[in-house]
Amino acid sequence: MKTFKTLTACLLLLPFASCTQVSDSKDKLIENKVENLLSKMTLAEKIGQMNQISSFGNIEDMCGVIKKGEVGSILNEVDPVRVNALQRVAVEESRLGIPLLIARDVIHGFKTIFPIPLGQAATFDPAIVEIGARVAAVEAASVGIRWTFAPMIDIARDPRWGRISEGCGEDTYLTSVMGVAMVKGFQGDSLSSPSSIAACPKHFVGYGAAEGGRDYNSTYIPERRLRNVYLPPFEAAAKAGAATFMTSFNDNDGVPSTGNSFILKEVLRKEWGFDGLVVTDWASAKEMITHGFAADDKEAAMKAINAGVDMEMVSYTFMNQLPALVKEGKVKEETINEAVRNILRIKFCLGLFDQPYVDEKKPSVMYAEPHLAAARQAAVESVILLKNSNQTLPLNEGVKTVAIVGPMAHAPYEQLGTWVFDGEKSHTKTPLDAIKAMYGDRVQIIYEPGLTYSRDKNTSGVAAAVAAAARADVVLAFVGEESILSGEAHCLADLNLQGAQSELIAALAKTGKPLVTVVMAGRPLTIGREADLSSAVLYCFHPGTMGGPALADLLFGKEVPSGKSPVTFPKMVGQIPVYYSHNNTGRPATRTETLLNDIPIEAGQTSLGCTSFYMDAGFDVLYPFGYGLSYTTFAYSNVRLSAKELKKDEVLTVTFDLENTGKYEATEVAQLYVQDKVGSVTRPVKELKRFTRITLKPGEKKTVSLELPVSELAFYNIDMMKVVEPGDFGLWIATDSQSGEEYSFKVID
Ligand code: NOJ
Repeated sequence: MKTFKTLTACLLLLPFASCTQVSDSKDKLIENKVENLLSKMTLAEKIGQMNQISSFGNIEDMCGVIKKGEVGSILNEVDPVRVNALQRVAVEESRLGIPLLIARDVIHGFKTIFPIPLGQAATFDPAIVEIGARVAAVEAASVGIRWTFAPMIDIARDPRWGRISEGCGEDTYLTSVMGVAMVKGFQGDSLSSPSSIAACPKHFVGYGAAEGGRDYNSTYIPERRLRNVYLPPFEAAAKAGAATFMTSFNDNDGVPSTGNSFILKEVLRKEWGFDGLVVTDWASAKEMITHGFAADDKEAAMKAINAGVDMEMVSYTFMNQLPALVKEGKVKEETINEAVRNILRIKFCLGLFDQPYVDEKKPSVMYAEPHLAAARQAAVESVILLKNSNQTLPLNEGVKTVAIVGPMAHAPYEQLGTWVFDGEKSHTKTPLDAIKAMYGDRVQIIYEPGLTYSRDKNTSGVAAAVAAAARADVVLAFVGEESILSGEAHCLADLNLQGAQSELIAALAKTGKPLVTVVMAGRPLTIGREADLSSAVLYCFHPGTMGGPALADLLFGKEVPSGKSPVTFPKMVGQIPVYYSHNNTGRPATRTETLLNDIPIEAGQTSLGCTSFYMDAGFDVLYPFGYGLSYTTFAYSNVRLSAKELKKDEVLTVTFDLENTGKYEATEVAQLYVQDKVGSVTRPVKELKRFTRITLKPGEKKTVSLELPVSELAFYNIDMMKVVEPGDFGLWIATDSQSGEEYSFKVID
């Protein structure tokens, strides 16, 4: 821990330089430069800036179009020599010498891979998340990438959706906090620092609400829900200075985001004052034709630009159609000018006109020690302890032999997770590697994977794994999902463990040996059966390069789990969508209802006493939002509120005592939830409003205070106005979204 702190202190000192972010730097100097340059540009050159191409390999062809001023940005170039060569053509051979903006999906690391964003969210630690984004920026910028398409801050309440892995889970507040941390980390203190990369919150907006959890699918999010649930993380990111935004693929209530002027102009530009650049998602302008929202390329281009898009990713409708559209008066040249201003401004802010080239000779920063230390710390904090019967974990001194089994025990590529274009599996430390290297002198290790990959249905290796288990004191079973089972377009209708993994767990359990199941996956899986068979369960969303050492230290007790789930674990897929901050029905379950198998045959139907629940799944989820155990125990007490009645401009201070009542020094994530009891529209049964990480030694007790401005209780009411409505509120200070005693306060006019 000490080493990590020292290393991250160095890390933080290094690349955060001076300067500001886009909106602050909308200073006169930059605006003058933008206007000056714009005044020299032909219409064709302006449209060229609005065109983003994907690297097409052949550098000569690319140089040709760049020289003609037909490209504003390139994605997927990662070789600094090529980046410099292309940049040289833009700067030295195109008529106006406008540098290129080089972009890449640097989602949870460039070379040093951090846990997938869902795992980062499980840390409930914005500081480590900011460091993760900083590391990604430092590594990516060192090869000339100055724009990442991250953070993804789509609220996702459906784990069938493969892209749940890329975001921060189901909660609006947690996602807002983490999104801001990522923006800060990517952009540093100043966009103009050569180690800063422009952030791109995405996908604007509502993409995570795809019907049925099937990627790209339509959404139906009415305005109030959009404003109360889906927009706030984007507003927070915009206010934190995010330089760019990306539109989403989905159509919401019939309007594809790329052609939605309400979200792009009314909300983003007018309400939030965003002055950065808006890029489409990959070909999402052209895809408005397939949506049936535009008849052809021309209409697609017209709808996208008139809705407020500045740059088109890869589908060339702007390049090919805007000249005619301007000529015909269907697109105003001032609209083009505004888009180009937004693009040039970012290029000036990034300092690209002053320093377009990357230093090819600079020593490599990839996998630097502080980067690996931070990735390891993030992985440690991201792991969630879901079960720990009989204090199976941490493994005690009595454990002399461990059987390591399962397809994820030594799967260096798979533990990196989705969106890893540049990380190399050769640098991954797997749990098997790490346990051997770090604890090999303490325990004897028998490795028998049983299955070779997560979808493997060939059970011929299971007997050997069971035999290994029989010889061991404890079984460590590493199961889960390969990287490719989550991420874009990788949705699932069945969330049980794939392949024969469930059979493997069942066979191991039969040995009667303590069974520790470690899951590495891109989403919450329906692992109730396996959890029941296991003595302990550690869950990590793909933990990245340093997942192995992090897990080894957690298993052997050098570290103590502190991760909390950023998403609800359903018991079964049929419960989805299931999330903690739902509105109440008029007939909530009382938990006294008769469940499926207790209903008498030929029972008569009545609507008396009918409530909202599933007869087969019952009342509960598998694990609620915010859930996560520790090796120690914590006691919350003495919760007090600074006032029982507060005015709208006041701040509520909630103070409580937290005591470590167990045997291990550990960190607890204390969570503050509220409920607005009666509103002009129905309100969620609970909403997370604050959280904090508190580290305590055994027996130590601390008094903790959380401040909550009453203004943060505002929501979009019946008149679609953001207001705090006076009335009664419930409040919980708790270890997860389903526990804690209820307190109350009142907001008065
Ligand atoms: C499509 C994805 O939806 C988006 O998230 C990504 O940034 C772009 N492709 C570019 O790769």
